[in-house]
Amino acid sequence: MIVRYPQDNHRGTFGFMLVNAGLAAEQFPNLKNVGEAASPNFVGRSASFTCGAVARVSLQVGDGQHIVDAKFKVAGCSVLVAALTVLTEQVKNKTTAEAVALAEDLETIERRLGREAVDRDDCVLLASEALLEAIRAYSDSAREHWDGDDALICTCFGVSERTIESEIQNKNLNTIAEVTRECNAGAGCRSCYSLIEDILEEVNGKW
Ligand code: FES
Repeated sequence: MIVRYPQDNHRGTFGFMLVNAGLAAEQFPNLKNVGEAASPNFVGRSASFTCGAVARVSLQVGDGQHIVDAKFKVAGCSVLVAALTVLTEQVKNKTTAEAVALAEDLETIERRLGREAVDRDDCVLLASEALLEAIRAYSDSAREHWDGDDALICTCFGVSERTIESEIQNKNLNTIAEVTRECNAGAGCRSCYSLIEDILEEVNGKW
C-alpha cells in the first residue's frame, strides 16, 4: 500500500483544520477504499509537479458500464486522500458516464470535504484526474474488445460509428460539440474525441 499520510507538504497548514472541520476530518479514522480493485481492473494515475503528490485509482467495471468497485493508492496530502476517499465511494454502482459527471463536479466535492478542500482545489483536481484517467482506460479497453456488428466509438453512451456518421451526414455537423449535442457521443470521459474528429473529417471530405 502506498498511502503515506499525513506526512505531506501541507501537514503544518492543515493538521489543525482537519480535526476541526469538514468531511476530511471524519474520513481519516475509517479510511475507505484504499488498495486495488479486483482484477480485471482499469487504472488511472495523476501527479503534481508542484507538490510531488501522486494518486492512483483502480476501477472494476461490470455490466452496463456500472462501476462495481473503486479503490485508490496515494502519496500526498490529507485533502487529496479525503477527495479520493469521497470520489471512490461516490462512483460505486454508478455508470462510467455518471462517474465522470461526479468527478468533474469539483465544487460539490470541495463542499463535502469542507473548507480545507476549497482552499486546496488543486488537490481535489488531482483526485478527479486520476479517476477520469481510470474511466478512460476502461472506455478504451471496452471499445477495443467490442465485438458488435457496428464499431463502437463512444463507450460511455454506447454510440456506434454508424450512428455518428449518419448524424453528421443528416444534420450537417462540423464539430465534436455538435455531434455530442445530437447523439451524446463524447459527453462522458471524452476518450472518444479523436475518433469522433476522424469521423467528422472523413464524412465531411477533409481527408
Ligand atoms: S467514450 Fe467516454 S465520452 Fe465517449
